[in-house]
Amino acid sequence: MCGIVAVTGYRKALPLLIDGLQKLEYRGYDSAGIAVINEDNNLICDKSEGKLKNLINKVSNKDISGYVGIGHTRWATHGKPIVKNAHPHLDSLGSIAVVQNGIIENFQELKSKLEKEGVDFKSDTDTEVIPHLIQKELNNLSKLNLENNGSTLLIAVRNVISDLEGAYALAVIWSGAPDSLVVARRQAPLIIGLGEGEFVCASDTPAIANFTKTILPMEDEEIGLLTPLGIELYDSENERQYRNPVSLKSSEQVVDKKNFRHYMHKEIYDQPEIAKNWVKKYLSKIDSNQYKINYAFDTNFLEGIERIQILACGTSRHASMVGSYLLEQFSGIPTNVFYASEFRYSPPPLLPNTLTIGVSQSGETADTLAALNMEIKRRKLTNKLELQPNLIAITNRLDSSMGRLVPNIIDISAGIEIGVAATKTFFGQLLSFYGLAIKFAQLRNSKSADEINNLILDLINLPPQLEELVSSHNKISEKLAHDFSDIKDVIFLGRGINYPIALEGALKLKEISYIHAAGYPAGEMKHGPIALLEKKVPVISIATPGKVFEKVISNAQEAKARDSYLIGIAPKCKGIEIFDFLLPLPAIDEWLSPLVAVIPLQLLSYHIAAHKGLDVDQPRNLAKSVTVE
Ligand code: F6R
Repeated sequence: MCGIVAVTGYRKALPLLIDGLQKLEYRGYDSAGIAVINEDNNLICDKSEGKLKNLINKVSNKDISGYVGIGHTRWATHGKPIVKNAHPHLDSLGSIAVVQNGIIENFQELKSKLEKEGVDFKSDTDTEVIPHLIQKELNNLSKLNLENNGSTLLIAVRNVISDLEGAYALAVIWSGAPDSLVVARRQAPLIIGLGEGEFVCASDTPAIANFTKTILPMEDEEIGLLTPLGIELYDSENERQYRNPVSLKSSEQVVDKKNFRHYMHKEIYDQPEIAKNWVKKYLSKIDSNQYKINYAFDTNFLEGIERIQILACGTSRHASMVGSYLLEQFSGIPTNVFYASEFRYSPPPLLPNTLTIGVSQSGETADTLAALNMEIKRRKLTNKLELQPNLIAITNRLDSSMGRLVPNIIDISAGIEIGVAATKTFFGQLLSFYGLAIKFAQLRNSKSADEINNLILDLINLPPQLEELVSSHNKISEKLAHDFSDIKDVIFLGRGINYPIALEGALKLKEISYIHAAGYPAGEMKHGPIALLEKKVPVISIATPGKVFEKVISNAQEAKARDSYLIGIAPKCKGIEIFDFLLPLPAIDEWLSPLVAVIPLQLLSYHIAAHKGLDVDQPRNLAKSVTVE
C-alpha cells in the first residue's frame, strides 16, 4: 500500500529517497513520486505511473541536488493510478509538497470550499486539499509577521490537520523553509529514523533499516518538525514530547530472490526452514518426554482464560480459522474468529476472561489494528476485573504498530515477506497456533500427555517431510499449471481442519492468477455451489485421512457426477481412485494436515500465474499492508 519516505540532513536527498522507496516497493503500489527543495530553494517535483523504475529513469538525468525531500509510492484509493494523482501534491504556487498515506474523509467538503475560493485542483485525490490548505494557513501566518521557517510550517500544518477527518500519515516540505520537514500521523504508521545530523521518516521500517537502526516511532496524533539540527515532537495538545529512541528489533532487510524468478516462489521454498527454526525457538524439552512452549512473555494470565476471540483479515484470518479449530478441538477452549472489519462495527457482547488475539503478518492492517484498539478501549472502560483485556498478537513484524500496541507478541519469525500474496507468513501463523494450542492443552489437560507429545513429535519431524514435499510438488504443479490456461472458475473443497485451507487455496489462486475461485466446506457444496459445476470447472478437494475423510470423498463423488475434473490433495490411500489427478501428500496425522496440504495449493497457484506471465509478486490492485479501512 502507499509508502512514505522523507529525509533532511547533510546528504543529497534524492538517492536516499529512491533507496527508501525501493525498500517499500514490496508493499504494492501503482505510481511513485518525489519532491526535493534544491540548492536554489526551489521545489522540484517528479512523478511517474507504474513501477518505480519509471520514476528513476525520469529523474536520473536531472540535477536534483537538494538535501530535504519527500517520496511516495501510491496505491490508488481516490482517483485512478495515473500521473496527475501520484504524490507529492503541490499548492498552486508550487512551493509546498505533501505526501500522504490514509484517507481524508472530509476532503470533498474541504475541496468544494477551496474551489469556491478560486483554487484550481490538478488531481482527483483527497490529499491535494492538504497543500492548498497549508498555503492558505501560511498566508494567514505571514500577516502575523511570522518568519519563513520550519516552526511556521509546523504551525500551519498543525492548524490544517485539526480540520482533517480520517486516518493519515503525512510529510510536508516548503521552499520557504528549505531544511525543514514536517511530519504528522493519525491512525497510520510513521517512524522517524535518527542518523547523525540527518533524519529519515518513513511509513515502514525497511525504508529506514539501511539508514539507521535507531528509531522513534511516532505516537498517534503526533506532529514533528525535523531539521538537520534535531527533532521537535508535539502531541495533539501541542505539548512538546520527549522520549528516548529505541533500536529496530529485527533486521528488516529485504533479502534477495536468490535464483528464483519470483519472491513468492522463494518464500514457498523457505517454509521447511521456517518450521525448523520454529521448533528451535518455541519448543524445549524439560525431561525425557515432556516439552514446553517458550514465549517471550509471562504466560500466567493464560490460566484464567475461558474463551478466545481472534481478529484478522484475509490470509491471516484463514490461519486463525485453523487456529480456532485447534484451540477448540485439541485444547477444548471455545474460540471465535472475526473478520476484523466486521468486528469493528458489530462486536459481540463483552464476556469475561476472554483472550483477544490479533493476527497480522504486517502488523499494520488498519482494520485489525482498529478492531484491537476498540476492544481494548471498551474492555478498559468497564473497570471490571474479569472484563479487562487479555491480549496476544501474532505478527511477523515486531517493529509494527501491532507489535507496539500489544504487550504479548508471538513472533512468526518468518523473515520479511516480499511477495504480496502471503505464503510463508501464513505457514508461520499456522505454526504459532499449533504452539498456542499445545500450551492451552497442557494448561487445561484437554488431551493426554501422550496425545500432546505425539503432536509435538510430529511437529519436530515435519521439516524434512516439508523439504521433500516442496521439491516434488514444484515439478507436479508446474506441469499441471498448463491445464489451467483456459479455466475461468475453480472450486476448492475441504472439511474440518482443512476447510480454511480450501479457502486459502482459493484466495491464493484468485490473487495472483485472476482466475475466479471459491472455497467451500465440502458438505456445503450440494446446498448451492454445485449449480456451478461442469466440465470446465475443476474441483480441488483436500482429503486427508481422519474424522471426515470418507465424507470428503463422497462430496467429491457428487462433483464427479457433474463432470468436473477432480484434483485430489491426499495421501496415496484407499478412496483416492476417484480423483482424476492426485497431488500426493505424505501420510501424516490429521492434526498436522493443514501444514502439508497448503503447500501444493501455494505451488499450483504460483505456477498457474507464472505460466500466464503475470506479475506474481505484485498482483494488480493488491498491497502488502493494507493501511486503509
Ligand atoms: C493474501 C494477503 C491478504 C492479507 C490481509 C491481512 O495473500 O496477503 O489477504 O492476509 O490483507 O494482512 P495482514 O496479515 O498483514 O494483517
